[in-house]
Amino acid sequence: MTNDEACKAVIGAVQAGYRLFDTAHGYENEAGVGQGIRSCGVPREELFVTSKLLGAWHGYTAAQSAYQASLHRMGLEYLDLYLIHWPLPSQDRYVDAWRGLSRLLEDGRVRAIGTSNFKPAHLQRLIAETGVAPDVNQIELNPYLHRRETRAHGERLGVATQAWAPIGQGGALLHDASVTATAANHNKSAAQIILRWHLQHGVVPIPKSSDRRRIRENIDIFDFELTSEEVARLAELDRGEQAAVDSDTTGC
Ligand SMILES: NC(=O)c1ccc[n+]([C@@H]2O[C@H](COP(=O)([O-])OP(=O)(O)OC[C@H]3O[C@@H](n4cnc5c(N)ncnc54)[C@H](OP(=O)(O)O)[C@@H]3O)[C@@H](O)[C@H]2O)c1
Repeated sequence: MTNDEACKAVIGAVQAGYRLFDTAHGYENEAGVGQGIRSCGVPREELFVTSKLLGAWHGYTAAQSAYQASLHRMGLEYLDLYLIHWPLPSQDRYVDAWRGLSRLLEDGRVRAIGTSNFKPAHLQRLIAETGVAPDVNQIELNPYLHRRETRAHGERLGVATQAWAPIGQGGALLHDASVTATAANHNKSAAQIILRWHLQHGVVPIPKSSDRRRIRENIDIFDFELTSEEVARLAELDRGEQAAVDSDTTGC
């Protein structure tokens, strides 16, 4: 989204009941998200705002400076969650970046810190070398990509899992026969079925929409429940960990 679109989407989403907002330095819309947060009429402390560190800023001091720059662009005094966007193992600097984020947390400048696109091996290394576990790991996750191993590993460490591409980026998943049949059972849309699936798996989905109607639709998922048979049918859609974006070789 552009800054303008992001600002409008945040305001519409707050009115629809959303309280968590996710942006990143790399999306070039932190300013719009921040403007929406500041002008939406709900007190800042009732909102949960996340941004992410770009790879060029992996480093102890660099990460702290990048956080300050994000706050400046957003016009906010603090973030609720700051994530390392990608591990970028080829740079081999994510542990230094993590030390920088840990320092922000220690100093009370951010409320929680985490990672994004980290595989179990990346998380293990962070914890072994710094003793600090992430609060959150945000990964690509939806009924085509259950990420069982990564989720189970996170659970053992007490790391909450957030899902990006939660509805499969608006693609084929929304037209999958198992999803549309389940949607018909409940008189709900395919997107609502998928978002409900996330909740019933203890995952935090962060769907993106710039459309008022779809923004409202995506939060209207608290008045029904998927049956165990439906959950089992959706489990068959999993394409395995290897089908997700490979964060050993991809990222920014
Ligand atoms: N950590 C990372 O590396 C990473 C990577 C990618 C994304 N993210 C974060 O995750 C968020 C969501 O992921 P995403 O944008 O990749 O994928 P997504 O939320 O799964 O899908 C968004 C797409 O679905 C469409 N859509 C939304 N609601 C819909 C509905 N009810 N029915 C039909 N289509 C619908 C949207 O179009 P409209 O806008 O037109 O509704 C948009 O094209 C992003 O906004 C970003 O904050 C993080």
